[in-house]
Order: sequence, then structure tokens, then C-alpha cells
Amino acid sequence: MSAEDLKRQAAAEAVRLVEGGMRLGLGTGSTAKHFVDLLAERVRQGLKVVCVPTSEATRAQAESLGVPLATLDEAPELDLTVDGADEFDPALRLVKGGGGALLREKIVAAASARMVVITDESKRVDRLGRFPLPVEVTPFGLEATRRAIARALAASGCAGEIILRRKPDGHVFVTDGGHFIFDCKLGVIPDAESLADLLARIPGVMEHGLFLNMANAVIVAGATGVTIVGDPAARAPK
Ligand code: A5P
Repeated sequence: MSAEDLKRQAAAEAVRLVEGGMRLGLGTGSTAKHFVDLLAERVRQGLKVVCVPTSEATRAQAESLGVPLATLDEAPELDLTVDGADEFDPALRLVKGGGGALLREKIVAAASARMVVITDESKRVDRLGRFPLPVEVTPFGLEATRRAIARALAASGCAGEIILRRKPDGHVFVTDGGHFIFDCKLGVIPDAESLADLLARIPGVMEHGLFLNMANAVIVAGATGVTIVGDPAARAPK
């Protein structure tokens, strides 16, 4: 089975959690894209939902498929957000932002009563840090912010390169919010809570890709089938 098949399987399981009348957060990335496709099929069959996208890419996809959309201002309290992740650990802590949408993803997830993550088995880790941690920053004072991030990493026991994200054409990657992203190649994050706290205190940091205490469940598609870690019906401890 291909990676895309696995992502679609996880997305299909998540679509089963959707009920009529729900206000949904729509994630970003290749796995979330499958969820939006499958949700659109149910909308065509008559399902009534209102959805808040976490990126312009997801907005465009959902719009093109006729999925009813609202802004987070119009629907500030959501029932369920379904999103992908770059990695997750046994405590359902996540690293997100590989697609560059982490700020809006975190705002939408925090406005949701429940967050369910859809992944394939390759995203499972024992300890976070294998995937470079994205940190979204404002362009003003970029070097000062980079140095502050380096100090935060060191203070929380991490070490590694901090790389300004660029597009394949060499231009700096710019998020939907007009910010830049530093990708921190850490290998392992010994204390995710401490690092999250230290990063959040840096003025130039808009948001970081550590999603702690946010996911209720992770739906994992693997070669032997779909497993669910956590409780998709539980409310997030926000
Ligand atoms: C987008 O910014 C990310 O947080 C994605 O949710 C994450 O990168 C997972 O993407 P894939 O489903 O494409 O792996």
C-alpha cells in the first residue's frame, strides 16, 4: 500500500467522526487534503457542516469542492479539528508546521473542543525531534530572533542547526500570515514543555510547531491497518 493510500485510510476514519451540524477545523498538508476530499463527498451527499480552513491552500481546495466555509471570526468555537502532523509521540505530543501553516493550525486547534490527528505510521516517534522543529517568526529583527531561539534551544537541552526555510527557487518561504520560518534540526527534544515555554517568551516568535496537550487522538494508518491512539471523543485538556 502506498503512503498516499495510508493517509487516505486515516482520513477516512476521521471522516466517520463528523456529524451533521458540526463546526470543523480543516487542517493543512497532504493527509488533511485527503480528509477534505472525503468530507466533500459527504457534503455532496447532504451532510451539513461549516468549516474553518487553516491555510489558503486548504481554503482553495475546500472552496473548489463546495465545502461550506466560514472564518474563525464567524465560527470562533469549533467542535472538531482534523489535521495532520509531522510527528507524534506516545503522549500525543506533536510537531507540526512542515507545510508552513503552524500558526493558523494552532489557533484553529485551540478554538476546537477536540483535535484529531491523522497520520501514517512513519510519523510515530518515541521522542520528539526527529523532524526539524518549525518556528514561525516575524521578519523584523530576524537575526536577533534567531539568536534568542538558539539560546532557548540550549537552555532546554537541545542542540542543532537553525535554518531559514526557503522555497525550491531559493526565495525565503513566507507563511500565509506574512512571516518566515526557522527549521530547527534537533534530532531529539529532551524537554518539549520547557522548550515550548522558552520559545513562546521570545517576542519575534509568532508560534512554534510543538503542539502539546492539544490532540485528543491520533489516527494512524499502517501496513496492518488503522489504529487509534487516545480517545477521539474526549475533549482536549485546553
Ligand atoms: C502543515 O503546516 C503541517 O503542520 C502539516 O499538518 C504536517 O506537515 C503534516 O503534513 P503531511 O500530512 O503532508 O505530512
